[in-house]
Amino acid sequence: MRIGAHTATCGIVLHPAGHTRSPAMHNAAFAALGLDAVYVAFDVPPARLAEAVAGARALGLRQLAVSIPHKEAVIPLLDEVDETARRIGAVNTVTLRDGRLVGSNTDWIGAVRALERETPLAGRRAVVLGAGGAARAAVYGLRARGAHVSVLNRTAARAEALAKELGAERAGPLAALPDTPCDVLVNTTSVGLREDASPVPAGAIPAGCVVLDAVYDPPHTRLLRDAEARGARAVGGKWWLVLQGAEQLRLWTGCEPPIEVMAAAFDAAGASGAGR
Ligand code: ATR
Repeated sequence: MRIGAHTATCGIVLHPAGHTRSPAMHNAAFAALGLDAVYVAFDVPPARLAEAVAGARALGLRQLAVSIPHKEAVIPLLDEVDETARRIGAVNTVTLRDGRLVGSNTDWIGAVRALERETPLAGRRAVVLGAGGAARAAVYGLRARGAHVSVLNRTAARAEALAKELGAERAGPLAALPDTPCDVLVNTTSVGLREDASPVPAGAIPAGCVVLDAVYDPPHTRLLRDAEARGARAVGGKWWLVLQGAEQLRLWTGCEPPIEVMAAAFDAAGASGAGR
């Protein structure tokens, strides 16, 4: 890649840095599409987010992905936030449009498209485990696709509040899974992240359902292994990340994203330890 006077700069703001495969994924996509653009990671602590956004505006960064812990705090710093991101309550993408910084959310599309690799969603009964930001995006996306949604969380009160706000039909504790209708199961809790643990017992996973795990490290979490052993179909968190990133690329460039190239770069970055 040759960086020159007209190279467009994109990036991701997060804190701490070092746990992102986004630069690998997006730079591979830029190369495959022949775009004169580069994507870098910016480690920005919360106290400096406002300065970072002002800097992005001044420097004309074309697109800034927003990751943990900035997805909510960035909202008041932008010129415009689309309706979907407002509903979810989080912005993961800031795109420069005619000099204005426009916030949107592609996390929900990533979750929905990852599931749609295995199943249509309209009319399906979906269960979302967790009640944080990833759960909000998943619930929004599943509702937008016409699924019937239940939210189960360790702290049931958080599940109830989320369900009420985003129009899910049921809510309860994680232990309610065996009594909850479930064709599609989405884990958004952090259980299983770099540990051999699952948020639910294997026996509670319905045979024949589709299971998506937001956790992508390790690629084959305990939840996904249990799901396969029960005859369920497993979708790794890699697809959620790759497909939300693909949608960011589409927003900025209007190009059809090279999904397989991005997925391969995501895997290679994990194997080389460039980012987890
Ligand atoms: P994010 O915004 O990334 O989704 P978050 O807001 O920190 O993350 O939410 C983490 C989720 O993982 C929560 O639903 C949390 O449950 P609580 O609301 O009860 O805290 C869930 N979680 C974290 N550790 C867990 C554990 N050991 N067992 C079950 N759920 C857990």
